[in-house]
Amino acid sequence: MKIRKFSFGKIVDCNSVIKDIKTENGEIPYFFNENGKLTLKFKKEDLVYGLGENVRGINKRGWIFESYCSDDPNHAQDKRSLYGAHNFLIIHGVDRSFGVLIDTPAKVKFDVGYSNNEKLYIDVEGNNYDLYIIDGDNLNDISREFRALIGESYVPPKWAFGYQQSRWSYKDEEEVRTIGDKFRDKNIPIDCIYLDIDYMERFKNFTVNREAFPNFEDMVSDMKKDGIRLIPIIDAGVKIEEGYDIYEEGVEKGYYCKDKDGKPFVAAVWPGRVHFPDFLNSEARLWFGKKYKWLVDKGIDGFWNDMNEPAIFYSEEGLKKAYEKVEESKNKNLDIYSFFALKDAFTGLSNSQADYNSFYHNMDGNIIKHNDVHNLFGHNMTRSAAEGLESIDSNKRFLLFSRASSIGMHRYGGIWTGDNTSLWEHLEMNVKMMPNLNMCGYLYTGADTGGFGGNCTEDLMKRWFQFSIFTPLFRNHSAMGTRKQEPFAFGEETEGTLKKFIEFRYGFIPYLYSEYMKASINNELMFKPLSFDYNDEISRGVEDQILLGDSLMLAPIIKQNAKGRYVYLPEDMLMVKAKSLDEINYEVMTKGHYYIEADIDEFIFFIRKDKILILGDSAKNVESIKNEELDVTVFLEDRANYMLYDDDGKSKEYIKGIYNNINIEIKNEDGDINVNCEVKGQTNVKKLNITVILKDKDNIKKCYKF
Ligand code: GLC
Repeated sequence: MKIRKFSFGKIVDCNSVIKDIKTENGEIPYFFNENGKLTLKFKKEDLVYGLGENVRGINKRGWIFESYCSDDPNHAQDKRSLYGAHNFLIIHGVDRSFGVLIDTPAKVKFDVGYSNNEKLYIDVEGNNYDLYIIDGDNLNDISREFRALIGESYVPPKWAFGYQQSRWSYKDEEEVRTIGDKFRDKNIPIDCIYLDIDYMERFKNFTVNREAFPNFEDMVSDMKKDGIRLIPIIDAGVKIEEGYDIYEEGVEKGYYCKDKDGKPFVAAVWPGRVHFPDFLNSEARLWFGKKYKWLVDKGIDGFWNDMNEPAIFYSEEGLKKAYEKVEESKNKNLDIYSFFALKDAFTGLSNSQADYNSFYHNMDGNIIKHNDVHNLFGHNMTRSAAEGLESIDSNKRFLLFSRASSIGMHRYGGIWTGDNTSLWEHLEMNVKMMPNLNMCGYLYTGADTGGFGGNCTEDLMKRWFQFSIFTPLFRNHSAMGTRKQEPFAFGEETEGTLKKFIEFRYGFIPYLYSEYMKASINNELMFKPLSFDYNDEISRGVEDQILLGDSLMLAPIIKQNAKGRYVYLPEDMLMVKAKSLDEINYEVMTKGHYYIEADIDEFIFFIRKDKILILGDSAKNVESIKNEELDVTVFLEDRANYMLYDDDGKSKEYIKGIYNNINIEIKNEDGDINVNCEVKGQTNVKKLNITVILKDKDNIKKCYKF
């Protein structure tokens, strides 16, 4: 295994991606220079993985991607950039595979066989970057090596694996409490409800709209007692308003990004005019991060950081130019060119390149134009929150995730995949993105289940739930003005189905959490393309089935009206067809191709050969789950082994080795089934109900008591 680093005059380093590495220069392998672009000649069978949050397939070949954090809720397959900028690729050939990291905070264009289908061109704006080539024996090694390089992934509290309900917005205390009560009355498990921008007073960070939330503190504490945590949003812009302490303090201390004249840069977002804290300045970053305490003191345990690409509705300068265009166009006969120029003056106001070129960061003495470090802004906003929260309570795990990100931010928080739409295509994109996000370090992630924009249909909601029950972040979120999306918003029949899916999710948490923690601690992937473990030609081409953790293969149904789906089994597997935690059927299937029927109210997944699935109980929220007994299902040929990880779920003591493991080994010794369990640490589990499923034989039930 080998990592080689090549530097190309890198001038800025603000905690972008690298933890620490020995440098070594020399001839760059695999790549050559073609017209100033880093170029690679593909082999025909090369697959290209990585690039984290992006549109299109798991294999990225055939399109151009640009790493430049961008706010665009209405994205389709033709988009080149989304909210995150993740410059890591794995080239997976037949006779050689390797990883490529471009460490730069500026824009990077990855032309992955679009201009020339035989070549990969990497074009780095400003040409200040470090290139890392990561060689390894196989894809799992390459990925692990890269993740070791960029540092361990963020670990959320265990309750963050519960079901989460969001909406822009639950606008007042009564509505928030009513939503919580409905979940409890209907016995639908839930752990979090989100507070979107309307909880704030005129969209000012670290304030509460007291008209709508007169008893904010009581609401937070009452609901927490009932097992529901409230998660407020924090936006990147600070409202310009006299008398607003945060605004005034930031101006006085010089903590905002500056314009070319050295004055705080003015942009406009939700509250109208705002300044952006200079998150790339260490003092400003810590200052803003410590402000989270104001909400932590009110009982808040988690946050979502938003609009931190940063999204800009308009700047003063941009708006001035647009008004000038109006003046210029008044009383004129507007032809095709002048009419569109007038229209574009307004439609082009938001997130404009001109604005990103017009403000500056003071990176501890170094004045740098925003555009050159654009991809570090959201990253450092989340770092700011993480460091601030760490200073408030260094042993507590807070829930923290962000919209914008770049590689390296995964150490501080998770991400959600930004604004999506209630479209089948966006469900499909969610599935395909998961492995690539994991490769780039993002384990705590998931999409707005059901879609943020647009109106969700009942069938799409059910199928989307069937996938989200497997993603670490399982949050149902939707935009203002769209159809309501809570599990009970669609009528009784759908409510019943969605409730069962949520209950299944709670039962799945022992496995999910165990896989999450092992992936974070050991720099592994939770979600992987099949070809990471099965390198046959068919597996290399599979795009809609993915591996989850040590034992499972997922095959979600993501097509409208589908009554089932085609599945490829690269080896013998055990099919799990489920409607709920109590309605599960198992069927042994041999390697090959199948069409599997699965009604809209049921979902399928697979236990791999000699692998183990663990299921526990459901409860009203994660902290109420007892799990004194666990169901262990093994698809056995020779020997299966599973290490079930657990810990207190809330502190950082696991770093010091305070966690527990149940090591389960099940062996088939000439027809005799032998079970061995070893426990390390303290566990609540008292009994394992083991079902051994063998090919062509009857199932064997065993019980293991501690
Ligand atoms: C952005 C966020 C979205 C949020 C909305 C209002 O669009 O991505 O999740 O609901 O802002 O705050």
